[in-house]
Amino acid sequence: MSFDLSETDRLLSTTRAVRRRLDLDRPVERDVLLDCIRLSQQAPTASNTQQWRWMVVLDAAKRKAIGEIYGRGKQFIDQAKAQVPEEDAQTHRVYDSAGWLLDHMGEVPALVIPCLQGRLPEGAPNGMAAATYGSIFPAMWSFQLALRSRGLGSTLTTISLFFEADVAKVLDIPDDVMQVALLPVAYTKGTDFKVAVRPPPEEITSFDTWGS
Ligand SMILES: Cc1cc2nc3c(=O)[nH]c(=O)nc-3n(C[C@H](O)[C@H](O)[C@H](O)COP(=O)(O)O)c2cc1C
Repeated sequence: MSFDLSETDRLLSTTRAVRRRLDLDRPVERDVLLDCIRLSQQAPTASNTQQWRWMVVLDAAKRKAIGEIYGRGKQFIDQAKAQVPEEDAQTHRVYDSAGWLLDHMGEVPALVIPCLQGRLPEGAPNGMAAATYGSIFPAMWSFQLALRSRGLGSTLTTISLFFEADVAKVLDIPDDVMQVALLPVAYTKGTDFKVAVRPPPEEITSFDTWGS
């Protein structure tokens, strides 16, 4: 059976980082999160290790605590924004939107923290780092696609990892479990998201010889 390409391509090309359009007032059901996690587990993992773990936070007090920790990342956003040339309006919009999320993370109805059982050793070679993160990022993206196809949205964020131990303390996450991201998840206000402007594939792809 063939796929409906117009629908799969629409899903792949319009799954955006959603921040201001997250509906903070509508709760997210456990079952929809579990359905999306179930789908995410069809993603590949290095050596079929399947060491993914998912921490879902629905409790309001814990979300607030994590939101406060995430808000400490303002310094990183401010520093990064200061480097962006004034004429790069798209990136300025991203940082403005990221700044909004810094102030509202704790109000998002579901905070989802994809984790890996085991930690990346300090100074791990590129191959090991790729195999480690590569065993969770495809699942995260599948999770985000599954959310989008159900009328929900999210943003892949990593700022909380600078304060990983503080987040672990709030949620009793053990030391040998590595957090990989923090995904704020909510139904979206409207479902019409646009295709983003990206470089044409011909500009970033080489065939047979680098640069050709
Ligand atoms: C590895 C990674 C880390 C990211 N970290 C953050 C973050 O900490 N905070 C945030 O608001 N967005 C974060 N983003 C989202 C990006 O800003 C967003 O994907 C990018 O601006 C492109 O927008 P689009 O996903 O809507 O196309 C991250 C994305 C990736 C892939």
